[in-house]
Amino acid sequence: MIRLNNIVATYTTTRGEVSAVDGVNLEIPTGKIIGIAGESGCGKSTLLKVIYGDLIYPLALKTGSVQYGFDSFGQEVTTSDIKEYWFKRISYIPQSSMSSLNPVIRINKQFTDHLDPSTDKAKVLEDVRAYVQKLDLPPEAIDAYPHQLSGGMRQRIMVAMGTFFNPDIILADEPTTALDVVVQKGILLLLMGLQEETKSTIFFVSHDMGVHYQITHKMLIMYAAKVVEFGDSDIIFTEPLHPYTRMLIESLPTIGDDHLRTGVSGRPPSLWEDLTGCRFAPRCPLATELCQTTEPEFKEYRRGHFAACHYAENTYQSSEIAILYDHHPQNQSPE
Ligand SMILES: Nc1ncnc2c1ncn2[C@@H]1O[C@H](COP(=O)(O)OP(=O)(O)OP(=O)(O)O)[C@@H](O)[C@H]1O
Ligand SMILES: [Mg+2]
Repeated sequence: MIRLNNIVATYTTTRGEVSAVDGVNLEIPTGKIIGIAGESGCGKSTLLKVIYGDLIYPLALKTGSVQYGFDSFGQEVTTSDIKEYWFKRISYIPQSSMSSLNPVIRINKQFTDHLDPSTDKAKVLEDVRAYVQKLDLPPEAIDAYPHQLSGGMRQRIMVAMGTFFNPDIILADEPTTALDVVVQKGILLLLMGLQEETKSTIFFVSHDMGVHYQITHKMLIMYAAKVVEFGDSDIIFTEPLHPYTRMLIESLPTIGDDHLRTGVSGRPPSLWEDLTGCRFAPRCPLATELCQTTEPEFKEYRRGHFAACHYAENTYQSSEIAILYDHHPQNQSPE
């Protein structure tokens, strides 16, 4: 298990501190692909940075800890010492490949810099050259400087760096954004194959619910700095408990269905607002007085299936939700 213990992560800004991950408490089974979804700004990247232990100002871990479950080490590894395990046991494929590669250092050196001095680097690089070809990169690409490669190539280099050393945990932040569908498919297949082979744990952030549906075992849904639902993907996609999850799924087109998707209209609240009650309430078709005033507890409704919604137990069909949603005052077009 990877344990996220009451995590509150903040950014310091000129306006003060803002909690981008606000009270996440979760046990995540290892050896699975964990999809993370939610609209822009809800804290997905911040959560990955906390797990990676990449806490650089203005980001700070205000409270809480991560336990990584590296049992074979016979010791508890926590956020403060996780850096020692970067690349080898935990890797991070960041959202922006441009800002993450050092522009003045050739890629081959960036691949081997963290290795033990006794390692045969030439041998490692030989293997890396063979490996990158699986990602449709020419072997010479690793001898280049980052700026000599296209954005898509750099992104694939990041995927290669994040996976080559077979880490136990891979944190992949939108690894296929900005890539064409053929390359995207190649990367997804590589990640899935690797996960199956090495039984690593992959945290996979994407806005694409279709991709989540295809590759993940578990789904973690975030809304306004909170985890609002967590569970097995097959259950999440067929019987979600949270109205927000339903809406994310509703926005997925299905083949042969040409009616206009409802989508999720409105926007998440600014994290600077007064966030009393359920943060999704202003956009929720099911919201009542209770939701406006009282924050729902994040709890387990069925085995391994958690949600934070006062009405999670009500069994609404998604079609009913869509109808309710269409009639929500916020979604009436202005006269
Ligand atoms: N360096 C920063 N300084 C101040 N606030 C930040 C900083 N980085 C992120 N934030 C804020 O923290 C919140 C969460 O950001 P985060 O990048 O984790 O979201 P995200 O879910 O990954 O979004 P996206 O889908 O756009 O990548 C946002 O409201 C954002 O404005
Ligand atoms: Mg992000």
